[in-house]
Amino acid sequence: MTNVVLTGFMGTGKSTVGRLLAERLRCVFVDTDELIVARDGRAIAEIFREDGQAAFRAWERRVAQELGQQDNLVIATGGRMMLDEVNAAALGRSGRVFCLTAAPETIIVRLEGDVRRPLLNVPDPAAKIRELLEKRAEAYGRFPQIDTEGKTAVQVAEEIIACLSTT
Ligand code: S3P
Repeated sequence: MTNVVLTGFMGTGKSTVGRLLAERLRCVFVDTDELIVARDGRAIAEIFREDGQAAFRAWERRVAQELGQQDNLVIATGGRMMLDEVNAAALGRSGRVFCLTAAPETIIVRLEGDVRRPLLNVPDPAAKIRELLEKRAEAYGRFPQIDTEGKTAVQVAEEIIACLSTT
């Protein structure tokens, strides 16, 4: 188990915590959204708009297979990436997975005014967040949960490091 994989809904802090974790664990940090943007050359919102969500999910599958074969990584995954069973198997084989959580209200506040996330580019983003959270709750629930509510990113990273060293 050489990788650490962070999953969880948008706005739960996967990228911020992942960066800190990578620093502390002396691992390489990879953000799957950033990797896809770098490879494709377009922003995620553009990929969704021009090629459709399926094209972005196909990118996620390719990236999951690739990263699953590497080690010493801290991987912050896009919010739905690990909810795909094939992706979860690929990344779970070589990594410890943690799911970051936060209350819906917290997520709504954190994502207010966000223009980078195509799924929230709707008339009522708060309703969309609640709907997606409900739809995905069971799937996220399969992973070990790290509650981020009221904690700093440093505290969350330290909690994950403590989990890694005790289990
Ligand atoms: C998505 C989450 C986003 C990004 C894309 C779709 C989702 O990643 O992959 O906009 O379906 O939850 P973050 O969780 O990093 O925002």
